[in-house]
Amino acid sequence: KGDPRLQDISNAIRVVPHFPKPGIMFQDITTLLLDHKAFKHTVDIFVDRYKDMNISVVAGVEARGFMFGPSIALAIGAKFVPLRKPKKLPGEVIAEAYELEYGRDCLEMHVGAVEAGERAIVIDDLVATGGTLSAAIRLLERVGAQVVECGSVIGLREIKVVKNPSTSFRKKKIGFI
Ligand code: PRP
Repeated sequence: KGDPRLQDISNAIRVVPHFPKPGIMFQDITTLLLDHKAFKHTVDIFVDRYKDMNISVVAGVEARGFMFGPSIALAIGAKFVPLRKPKKLPGEVIAEAYELEYGRDCLEMHVGAVEAGERAIVIDDLVATGGTLSAAIRLLERVGAQVVECGSVIGLREIKVVKNPSTSFRKKKIGFI
């Protein structure tokens, strides 16, 4: 709030009405990635926030968390851990399912990627219901990591996150810029 970089970031995100279906206002961050200044501001805001918090793991949510997470990880001296949709990771995985508007989906993480006691953040482009981030938090907590915070570029304020049944989600702070 009050950060002059936020306006540049906001201006660079394209809103596409009725995509992927009628009534949805799609928040398109590909136009943010095309704008070097706004893209750098976005990464810098996360780096400023997390650089001195002793974070050793940046977990990114497929697919758009992969577009921001690695840059943040490199800048703060952490490793990057991809949290992927089912059947994409070749090694042994643990999985957590989450609810979608229609049906369920699942995120997987490689066993051994994160060790007990590590301090982690989770990065994604957008939080709507928080269901995806809740699954990400559960994956990291199952291996004994501490999820310090979830960071998202866009937060849809009009969606009531309290409707999400995950207790894990509610006790975590989710920051968005
Ligand atoms: C979108 C977005 C978040 C998630 C947020 O991903 O990138 O990951 O939805 O929604 P939620 O807070 O209600 O869980 P999507 O499921 O469209 O997957 P994709 O990035 O692989 O296309």
